[in-house]
Amino acid sequence: MVDLDKIISLCKRRGFLFQVSDQYGGLQGTYDYGPLGVELKNNVKRAWWRRMVYERDDMEGLDCAILMNRLVLKYSGHEETFSDPMVDCKKCKKRFRSDQVDLEEKCAEGGKHELTEPRPFNLMFKTIVGPVQDENNIAYLRPETAQGIFINFKNVLDSTNRKLPFGIAQIGKAYRNEITPKNFIFRVREFEQMEIEFFVKPGTDEECHRRWVEDRYNWYISLGIRPENLRKYEQKPEELAHYAKATVDLLYRFFPDRADENKQFDEVEGIANRTDFDLICHSKGGKLVLKDGRVIPNEHAVNRLTYFDHETNQHIFPYVIEPSGGVDRITLAFMMDAYHEEEVKGETRVILKLSPELAPIKVAVLPLKKNHDGIVTTAKAIKNTLQKNCGWRSVYDDTAGIGKLYRRQDEIGTHFCLTVDFQSLEDKAVTVRERDTMEQVRVGIADLPSYLRERLGNIG
Ligand code: GAP
Repeated sequence: MVDLDKIISLCKRRGFLFQVSDQYGGLQGTYDYGPLGVELKNNVKRAWWRRMVYERDDMEGLDCAILMNRLVLKYSGHEETFSDPMVDCKKCKKRFRSDQVDLEEKCAEGGKHELTEPRPFNLMFKTIVGPVQDENNIAYLRPETAQGIFINFKNVLDSTNRKLPFGIAQIGKAYRNEITPKNFIFRVREFEQMEIEFFVKPGTDEECHRRWVEDRYNWYISLGIRPENLRKYEQKPEELAHYAKATVDLLYRFFPDRADENKQFDEVEGIANRTDFDLICHSKGGKLVLKDGRVIPNEHAVNRLTYFDHETNQHIFPYVIEPSGGVDRITLAFMMDAYHEEEVKGETRVILKLSPELAPIKVAVLPLKKNHDGIVTTAKAIKNTLQKNCGWRSVYDDTAGIGKLYRRQDEIGTHFCLTVDFQSLEDKAVTVRERDTMEQVRVGIADLPSYLRERLGNIG
């Protein structure tokens, strides 16, 4: 199993990810996705949307604004509770999460850190909306995409005439001012989430929760994650968020180099049973009930976020099952799981064994000779046809010898390398090399779309 450092090195070397603003010394906890990274991340999001929305008949999509009325985050409980306990070192002035501070770490000023008592630190990024810089114009960059779904529940219901059970899916940016962003894109301050709020009749929630845990687990496995690297973890009552009746986390083996096996795993996605908590707290006449027992009545909402149940002739608050994953963490998990090294003729061959659906590049077209007009024109034409007509991200590369070009494509996960040689000009065929087996076959240029489609599958 690969450790994070090798993935970080591959990502930098091949342009999957760059440090944000590195021209000016960077900005901690933020990353830019480079040419290969954006392809991979888009493929992860597309694979999620395809399975979660298109391949089911009980889902709608949504794309909410990042800025919302501040009251959304007041009545969701984020203003009161979205915080981590934090301690400061009185000597070196460094800040740590109190549950993560390493008491053995040496203080920069010498000796051990001298820590303050833990204090809550709200993780939301504040901003001002409009030209007047005062308290009344404060807004937050959303810390999760979920709240936009809850407050649009009635809009979606009324405009689609959906019946329970149904879900709303959203992919989008979220922002958290993490005290200690770390471990590459595992914990960052700007990230993307893929969230579903699935609305069900009360009483059917527990069974539905179980089904979603299985569906989400199977999604990872179907895209290539090895079962031994993915675990289900049922949160203990004292670990549950204030809104949850039950939560199962999917944990991925992000840290294989840790000695304690349990510590090798960390959350890639959470699947929570949020009951009717959110629809009630955002409803006219509703209330937010905090874990410490405090009750905040909703004095601002204009609608009741209810559903009319024709079977009982009653307005009810549906229960909500929420599968919530982070795109960046999921992308990292797929990369880690796909990374393989093997010895070939005394050299280390790195292969990213990504599934066809996820691989950033599906086909590379390589000319055997880069200054031969016939070969170059044929190779470029094949690349353009496959990319434009078949929709497969393809590249043309003539910047090295064929062996080196194969290695370059292997380590970014490209499934097929097509080599155009002198014979291609005669027999109108190319050599097709498959990534994992390195097997080579001769395929007619006209047959390439059907030959490759059969092997790549339906990845459109
Ligand atoms: N709506 C529920 C919710 O937001 P969460 O457990 O706070 O729940 C869901 O976040 C997922 O978002 C996590 O499982 C993780 O994959 C991702 N995530 C959360 N904080 C993150 C961070 N700082 N950096 C990267 N991903 C993060």
